[in-house]
Amino acid sequence: MNKNTILIIGANGQLGSVLVKELQKLYGKENIIASDLNFNLSFDGVFEALDATDFDLMQNVVKKHAVTQIYHLAAILSATGEKNPLKTWEINMKMMLNVFEVSRLNKIEKVFFPSSIAVFGDAVLRENTPQSSFLNPATVYGMSKASGENWAQYYFLKYNLDIRSLRYPGIIGHQSLPGGGTTDYAVEIYHNAVKEKEFTCFLAKDTVLPMIFMEDAIRATIELMEAPKENIKTRTSYNIAGMSFSPQEIASEIKEIYPNFKINYNPDFRQKIAESWPKSIDDNQARKDWNWKPTYNLKTMTKVMLEKLAVKYGLQLTSCD
Ligand code: SER
Repeated sequence: MNKNTILIIGANGQLGSVLVKELQKLYGKENIIASDLNFNLSFDGVFEALDATDFDLMQNVVKKHAVTQIYHLAAILSATGEKNPLKTWEINMKMMLNVFEVSRLNKIEKVFFPSSIAVFGDAVLRENTPQSSFLNPATVYGMSKASGENWAQYYFLKYNLDIRSLRYPGIIGHQSLPGGGTTDYAVEIYHNAVKEKEFTCFLAKDTVLPMIFMEDAIRATIELMEAPKENIKTRTSYNIAGMSFSPQEIASEIKEIYPNFKINYNPDFRQKIAESWPKSIDDNQARKDWNWKPTYNLKTMTKVMLEKLAVKYGLQLTSCD
């Protein structure tokens, strides 16, 4: 059997920091090479400082560790991206093309490239958005992901590079914090709730967005990467769904456990981004091709989030059935 050596780019991020631990469990700590701009002192394992915009550095890391798979999780997200659109385009595209080209040159066996619900724009059906929708993203982050999906397919068709991709909804987990996204409120709200702090939401109360619990997002990623190559029929990126809800719906679930929880609404520029995205996603293609199925809904996720965060902050759940 071939030995897997997996490089994770963006290992300090919301998803990367959790995925690295999961992959360490599956493949052995010594076979996972975590990389990010800066070393994280609490990290336990093999780490390389890597600026993914630097082609030579990336190539050196790949050669040094005889890497066989790459997960590229670094990107500037939707909200931060709007503050400097040209820089965001340059950085997101440069990192992604470096990953694809280094992978081609070094005969990397499998590459994971995350896409996002941000690839959709106002041309789509916003309920149960189909896999094969026309993509006209309204943010530079969405534009970089839509274009990345086409590059992924191009490298597969032209060079037979096995790139696999998911269009993640907003990811919600207790282990890490997101940074610079439009769906970030749905993580922050739980932190405020357990600290019994009032929460000001930057989206309007009825803004429904697709979301997924971290455990499901990690499992989807690993299941996609472990699926037989011939099952992967979509070489741009797969729609996946977990759940969909609005700020007022998540707040009312939290109030089931923290009855005194208070939320108010002060929508900012992120409201417009959220309104350009789907409310819910049709993930039938993923279900069919590699048996994808989410396990968490808003209620079950809320219970775990509040319990785990209460432990993290050394606090007690105020009331829980
Ligand atoms: N969670 C991301 C964002 O809000 C979407 O991919 O930017």
